[in-house]
Amino acid sequence: MTTENSRITNVGADMTVEAWPSNEPVLKVRGLTKHFPVRRRFLGRGPKKVVHAVENVDLELYAGQVTAIIGESGSGKSTVARLLAQLYVPTSGEIALYGKPVHVKHGKAFRTYVGQVQLILQDPFGSFNPVHTIAYHLRRVLRIHNPSLGLKAIDDRMAEVLKEVNLAPANQFSEKYPHELSGGQRQRISIARALAANPSVLLADEPVSMLDVSIRLGILNLLEKLATERNLALLYITHDIASARYFATTATVMYAGELIEGGPAEAVTQQAGHPYTQLLIASAPDPDRDESVERIKDIGQPPSLIDPPAGCRFHPRCPFAMEKCHTEAPPKFDLGDGHWARCWLHESGAAATPMFPKEE
Ligand SMILES: Nc1ncnc2c1ncn2[C@@H]1O[C@H](COP(=O)(O)OP(=O)(O)OP(=O)(O)O)[C@@H](O)[C@H]1O
Ligand SMILES: [Mg+2]
Repeated sequence: MTTENSRITNVGADMTVEAWPSNEPVLKVRGLTKHFPVRRRFLGRGPKKVVHAVENVDLELYAGQVTAIIGESGSGKSTVARLLAQLYVPTSGEIALYGKPVHVKHGKAFRTYVGQVQLILQDPFGSFNPVHTIAYHLRRVLRIHNPSLGLKAIDDRMAEVLKEVNLAPANQFSEKYPHELSGGQRQRISIARALAANPSVLLADEPVSMLDVSIRLGILNLLEKLATERNLALLYITHDIASARYFATTATVMYAGELIEGGPAEAVTQQAGHPYTQLLIASAPDPDRDESVERIKDIGQPPSLIDPPAGCRFHPRCPFAMEKCHTEAPPKFDLGDGHWARCWLHESGAAATPMFPKEE
């Protein structure tokens, strides 16, 4: 396997990528915030409003590890992925790759960053040009990242990345058009295209949610294998908490634009410390659950992100909300072994677990 091509070799202070300490995050995010302006014609007169899509997110991605962001629709997961891929300019906050902050949308540091941090989308069809073959798409990326390579060497690399995603022999797939492949094959091609840039970080935004259930596991296993073999820092975005438990080392839970819980995936999904995470677990389909216990009742919808609730954003849905939750945003409470939750119930260290299912 080739991993030596255009990967940045010097990450500052004479440090090479290979020598980057494994306990230091490859990608480090602090206070990441994105507000989208709302067009006035939807709101009439009055002060300018914004959608608080992502608020004050801290995140670390480590080489060879899978980190999950779990959240329901509209919680801001894709906005985080797009901010990390530099498709959006943050409203505030800092993103650093190998310790180097990235601010501007031009220059060498920016070009290096966008090669190093690759995004895989939910619907791979939309990101391929239907009039071009798979070979066209892959050669294009390989040429951009390996300008000194000749045609033969480019095609050899193309065959290698196709083999890495279990599409062999290469010519059976490379001469096809996107519509001639199955959804699973197209998703493998989009992973191959990301690998063609020889990245350090892979952002997978719901990579299997549009695929048939029978092939999801194959794609997740492939991503996990690539993270290990290529020492990639992998961000796995999902609304499926069960898949995060199976697949991720570290899990974070996102609610209404904020990360509300995080830590080792096993702890977050087995001993959830935040009522929202417990709600997610209780409402996920589980064939092993004792059906004599009534399933949790619907406890409302996520809040408006234009006027998010004061204090804890979950308080209007939380059956355990206290006075304080209405006015003061909870800080991170340490639950031990790297597990944390933003919930006032932990202030006294006396949060009841499990809080859900609440209905008797
Ligand atoms: N370009 C944009 N302009 C304005 N608002 C946006 C934009 N992109 C996203 N939003 C809003 O930001 C919020 C978060 O959206 P986002 O797509 O990040 O959610 P998500 O967690 O990825 O949801 P899903 O699971 O449905 O993909 C939503 O309220 C959405 O309407
Ligand atoms: Mg999304």
